Amino acid sequence: MLSGSHLDAVPDGGTFDGAAGAIAALEAARRIAERGVPLARAVEVVGFVEEEGRFTGLLGSAAMMGLADFATLANAYDSQGVSFAEALRAAGLDVSQAQRAVRDPTQIAAFVELHVEQGALLEQAAIPIGLVTSIAGTHRLAVRLRGRTEHAGATPMDRRHDALVVAAEIVAAARRLARATRRETARATVGQLTVRPNVTSAVPGEVDLVVDVRDVDGAARAALAADIEKAIGEASRREGVDWSVTIPMSAVPGQTHPLVQTAIQATCEAMDLPYLRMMSGASHDTLNMLRRVPAGMIFVPSHDGRSHSPAEHTDAEQLAIGTDVLIGTLVRLATDNDTADPRQLLRG
Ligand code: GLV
Ligand code: MN
Ligand code: MN
Repeated sequence: MLSGSHLDAVPDGGTFDGAAGAIAALEAARRIAERGVPLARAVEVVGFVEEEGRFTGLLGSAAMMGLADFATLANAYDSQGVSFAEALRAAGLDVSQAQRAVRDPTQIAAFVELHVEQGALLEQAAIPIGLVTSIAGTHRLAVRLRGRTEHAGATPMDRRHDALVVAAEIVAAARRLARATRRETARATVGQLTVRPNVTSAVPGEVDLVVDVRDVDGAARAALAADIEKAIGEASRREGVDWSVTIPMSAVPGQTHPLVQTAIQATCEAMDLPYLRMMSGASHDTLNMLRRVPAGMIFVPSHDGRSHSPAEHTDAEQLAIGTDVLIGTLVRLATDNDTADPRQLLRG
């Protein structure tokens, strides 16, 4: 039985994404141990690293489940030019030992991750718990645009190969095409864009950007990504800019396990807590865990739906309720008596 979440965060992010679930798991383990709850299976706590994509994203859970491609990662660099091997070394680890992170999935009865919702559905509905049924996968298109850098004053408007004009069209096309799917679960975002030379008086000749494409349905997501790739080619040709697209990340969407869903549901019902069955638009380590072990997620409300921003907030009371649900869920899964009453355990 394993519970936890990730310990890293996005630059300029908040303090709840990831950390809330890791701390809730620690608290759950502490309370289960202090009360001497008899368990048939051990409860372990995990803090994953590199969930947010410094090198690849969801790396800790991928490593644990034997899904990480360390050969490719050996050649990966972060945005500051630090290599994967150097980053491991700085953390006191040795890249040649990375395979030791792999766990035998048959030794993990289930994985449960508590996480902040990062959207506003729970708060709007005044419901304290989200029971996550599916998780959208992230597919990234890394786009390299190479036009011609030249003088902003001396170059006539009809003689330009402006990579940023192409990038602007890609940004707008990503939104237009995602909305055109009319799918509530479709998303496309350009959140990262590097412009060179980034000088007021020069036509920008080079842009690198990443389009982040998501959906809970793999085929629908592939169709959207293909439409965006087509738009990238069309915009580049119109402007006479060379382009290339690579895929640094493509996580297959997944369903959480009925065993864990049932344990969360039964706990909420025993506690008389309303819960909402919902999909996750954000990506989570659970997406890797559910490939190999029964895995599921508990969401707690995010104030105003804000996340990946310093405005991220969840009240302590809401986290406490989520932690109680986590404890009840873990105890149900870790005992052979699935009628175990979490109220008994949480009392006092
Ligand atoms: C993880 O934070 C994601 O980008 O979904
Ligand atoms: Mn995040
Ligand atoms: Mn997260």
